[in-house]
Amino acid sequence: MYRMKKATVSLLIFVMALFLLVGCNSNTNGKTEEASGGKKDGKIVVGFSQIGAESGWRTAETKSIKETLGNSPDFELKFSDAQQKQENQIKAIRNFIAQKVDVIALAPVVETGWESILKKAKDAKIPVILLDRGIKVNDESLYTSFIGSDFILEGENAAKELINLIGADKKANIVELQGTVGASAANDRKTGFANGLKDNPNFKIIKSQSGDFTRTKGKEVMEAFLKSDGKNIDAVYAHNDDMAIGAIQAIEEYGLKPGEDIKVVSIDGIKDAFEAAVQGKTNIIVECNPLLGPQLAQAVKDLKAGKEIPSWIKTEESVFVGKDAAEEALPSRKY
Ligand code: AHR
Repeated sequence: MYRMKKATVSLLIFVMALFLLVGCNSNTNGKTEEASGGKKDGKIVVGFSQIGAESGWRTAETKSIKETLGNSPDFELKFSDAQQKQENQIKAIRNFIAQKVDVIALAPVVETGWESILKKAKDAKIPVILLDRGIKVNDESLYTSFIGSDFILEGENAAKELINLIGADKKANIVELQGTVGASAANDRKTGFANGLKDNPNFKIIKSQSGDFTRTKGKEVMEAFLKSDGKNIDAVYAHNDDMAIGAIQAIEEYGLKPGEDIKVVSIDGIKDAFEAAVQGKTNIIVECNPLLGPQLAQAVKDLKAGKEIPSWIKTEESVFVGKDAAEEALPSRKY
């Protein structure tokens, strides 16, 4: 009887311990994956608020951060997926501050609305590094550095290469698939493309709408463009490859040939886009590098070592035009 009681008590203690352990690892913010708060073995604790998983590019970025920081003995990574919602990102940052992380990395879904939460991080003396997308704040000291691409330049390159492909003296009606409304990647790529066309009155954007950086939405919006403008469309400019792939499907279902009847230009450089280019279904890929893990790790290390880090850490990128360029690059594509 006494032995039975002892066994029951031990079981109870074991279950309670397990319960506590699981409790520590969960978080109030949707899909947060993280260990318990506080520093562990002198590791640098980085809280990363990611936008979600809307595109192949985003998935590659998440993988790069998890592989670099998550697998390193120097870091402890706390990862939070905001599922496209700014409110979830704000909640995640609040949690990171409460847990006293060393550095916060933020891929901001939209450009505005960050002042108040970033002020809290600043007051808590936690540096914030922006990843891949920028923000608009009056006080630039609210973040330490931005790691990512020049989205305006990407848009300008997309326009330049499209003009080269079609011919500056030819007329071209273009439809534009914009990224997420309010995102710097969408705003700047739109501005850059318009800059690139402004000196050529032959090239006109006849329709422009958000496809939210997703394949499904890209296809839906392209279907609507085809319905209203059909054979008047000469080219589609998509702010990312996923929307371009959706558009390619819509063009084929409409009975036209993507890459021939309607030229396709998009930004990112995911493998699927290179495969489409090899098949002649897309024409121009402007690369935007999502493999930011190593740059983030270095920046965080430098910061913690008391070094000054650049306010903009730019990524290196190329442009691929035509089948041959895609065929040559495809085997070595990393995302
Ligand atoms: O911020 C970068 C953009 O966001 C990528 O081009 C797009 O694919 C992603 O969703």
